[in-house]
Amino acid sequence: MSLQNTAVASIDKDYEITIVRYFTIMTVIWGIIGMSLGVFIASQLAWPFLNFDIPWLTFSRLRPLHTNAVIFAFGGSALFATSYYIVQRTCKTRLFAPYLAWFTFWGWQAIIVAAVISLPLGYTTSKEYAELEWPIDIMIAVVWVAYAIVFFGTVIKRKTSHIYVANWFFAAFIITIALLHIVNSLAIPVSPMKSYSLFGGATDAMVQWWYGHNAVGFYLTAAFLGMMYYFVPVQIGRPVYSYRLSIVHFWALIAAYMWAGGHHLHYSALPDWAQSLGMVFSIILFAPSWGGMINGVLTLSGSWDKLRTDPIIRFLIVALSFYAMSTFEGPMMSIKTVNALSHDTDWTIGHVHSGALGWVGMITIGSIYVLLPRIYNKPKMYSTPLITAHFWLATAGTIFYIVSMWISGIGQGMMWRQTNPDGTLVYSFIDTVEFSHYPYIGRAFGGLLYVSGMFVMAYNCYKTLKMPDAIPQGTADPTDHDTVPLKDVDTQPVKV
Ligand code: HEM
Ligand code: HEM
Repeated sequence: MSLQNTAVASIDKDYEITIVRYFTIMTVIWGIIGMSLGVFIASQLAWPFLNFDIPWLTFSRLRPLHTNAVIFAFGGSALFATSYYIVQRTCKTRLFAPYLAWFTFWGWQAIIVAAVISLPLGYTTSKEYAELEWPIDIMIAVVWVAYAIVFFGTVIKRKTSHIYVANWFFAAFIITIALLHIVNSLAIPVSPMKSYSLFGGATDAMVQWWYGHNAVGFYLTAAFLGMMYYFVPVQIGRPVYSYRLSIVHFWALIAAYMWAGGHHLHYSALPDWAQSLGMVFSIILFAPSWGGMINGVLTLSGSWDKLRTDPIIRFLIVALSFYAMSTFEGPMMSIKTVNALSHDTDWTIGHVHSGALGWVGMITIGSIYVLLPRIYNKPKMYSTPLITAHFWLATAGTIFYIVSMWISGIGQGMMWRQTNPDGTLVYSFIDTVEFSHYPYIGRAFGGLLYVSGMFVMAYNCYKTLKMPDAIPQGTADPTDHDTVPLKDVDTQPVKV
């Protein structure tokens, strides 16, 4: 059944859209805050006086605030917004338990505020990407279970026979993050804001990187692929290149990701076989990652000219290119001999941000440009030239960032391993710090470009909300047209 047949239906009547709007606006706001913090800490690394000798402004406290703000506040809000929108559109039904959905909105924002307060004050478990202390961890678990009930409840009460592939990716993300978060956060509280992990030594490290890597795999990858599988076909106006490949992509990706975490612990106390297992599965991961990327890019085949004319498609396709780049670089860095050079250097930071700025950031930005006019019933975004300007700022910013980090990281790795004939080190640590000064300035500049683009986006979004409605309220569903490419898939789930 297509909503196109339902001639008189308003989007608000058929779907829970207000919550999608709230999460979408928060995505832009948290994006600006989290990335500005990124620019600030990047500048601290170039000019350390920016710590101002104030404990809660030090790099060590603001760095986890940056990672939490960009991953959980910016990325999380984007994923809530798009998953709530996509699951309703593709299941042709309203959200299950809307009050619970609102609980996830306010609960998630409260968790972020708790992070903004507790991290600069120095409360941390010191587990990367899982720094928040135990009372906040419990809040996260509760909100996440509510999210699962809303999402799966909606899938269960769907009015379509088929479950569109984007929902499979979101489903895997929701289940896995619940499992990872609960196991990795198991701890013994000793005071209201201090706890000790239930695991010790190498086991603790293994559990932490099983969590850490799958946070990358299921949160920063699978969930954003769910976004990709909906918004790329919708914006291009045709079904995904191969539906069959998207299913193979899904199963291969989730089967392989779980085993790769060992690559974060090469040359550590982790048993050697576990490190090698992590390496082998990381190399295997290259295949499904590129399969999915090719599927997204080829959706454009026959309409390549749109890359020239539509800056939103450019965002989406360039996001896929950075996804390709980081999923080539990652398997390479997981090879033990390469990791011996890259580990603990800025090369890793460059890899992270080619995924974070290039893939996660750009796919989110492109998707929001598709989503915003639809959920606010506007004919289109206010200004296409501003989207083009944003595209170039984001692309140039990402390239500045990662090239600076390649120079800094590979330089550090090479300098650290140089020895004199008598076995002593050629360079001291401070030599490499000096060497990285200019690349750090380059990175801060790249970040500044990227954040400037986010401000351009905020302005464009604001002006879009001020535009007259596309269709008078209550007469038709302005999002109708986006059922076209997916409707074919519902009835004929193969390559079209
Ligand atoms: C303007 C944009 C950004 C700038 C300038 C920036 C800057 C930084 C800096 C300076 C660090 C610390 C590096 C170090 O410890 O040596 C960092 C870490 C990190 N950032 Fe960003 N960032 C930005 C955007 C993002 C976004 C959008 C994401 C995720 C979606 C992200 C995810 C991360 C992660 C995961 C780390 C930790 C990396 C690791 O431990 O290996 N960043 N960022
Ligand atoms: C096939 C896919 C990928 C593989 C096999 C892979 C592999 C790796 C490897 C080997 C490292 C360095 C570990 C170390 O030396 O400590 C790493 C770090 C990292 N990667 Fe990837 N990567 C992949 C894709 C991605 C993507 C798409 C993103 C982001 C969206 C990402 C985010 C990260 C982060 C955040 C870290 C830093 C973790 C830390 O804090 O140390 N990776 N990855």
